Amino acid sequence: LLDQELVVLVEVLQVVERYALLLVREAGLLLRQAPAPAGDAGKRRGQVAPMSDRKKDLLAAARKARSRAYAPYSEFPVGAAVLGANGRIYSGCNVENASLGLTCCAERSAIFAMIAAGEREVREVLVVGDTGEALPPCGACRQVMAEFAPPSAVVHMCDRTGAGRSVTVAELLPHVFRLKKKR
Ligand code: THU
Repeated sequence: LLDQELVVLVEVLQVVERYALLLVREAGLLLRQAPAPAGDAGKRRGQVAPMSDRKKDLLAAARKARSRAYAPYSEFPVGAAVLGANGRIYSGCNVENASLGLTCCAERSAIFAMIAAGEREVREVLVVGDTGEALPPCGACRQVMAEFAPPSAVVHMCDRTGAGRSVTVAELLPHVFRLKKKR
């Protein structure tokens, strides 16, 4: 192929990818908005949907990790849990340092624990602080998530009760930096 043809091909593929992501997102929204069958009182629109068992497991693991956070400088403990493609859950907490910039966030701790255990693919993420509002991951953690999770992977951002918002990795970091891998 000529260089110019390659450029056009890459552009076309990028457009296709963008529409595929949009479709995935719309499908997710439609599913979330689908009315519950009549008589299913707890699931009626406008009410909080019951938490899936998987999210419950992620939340429990993230809370346990949060209880171990090392955050004497900020007193802002955070816990995170990731579901690996192998079905296992890995958790992490924030670990601060007197040299403040060396702090590692809970999300990265959890993902690094997964990598150290031999799993490379994140399927789902949950992050929980001790906050009244849902806790969005910082920019550095979004980039690390994008390294190991597909763009469609769901990230649950929770307040201390476990309620909050769920978005995809692509929504958190739309213009991800990528570098060609040597192998
Ligand atoms: N922190 C996390 O662990 N995850 C986040 O998503 C945001 C911030 C930690 C880093 C630091 O220890 C404390 O919260 C305050 O920034």
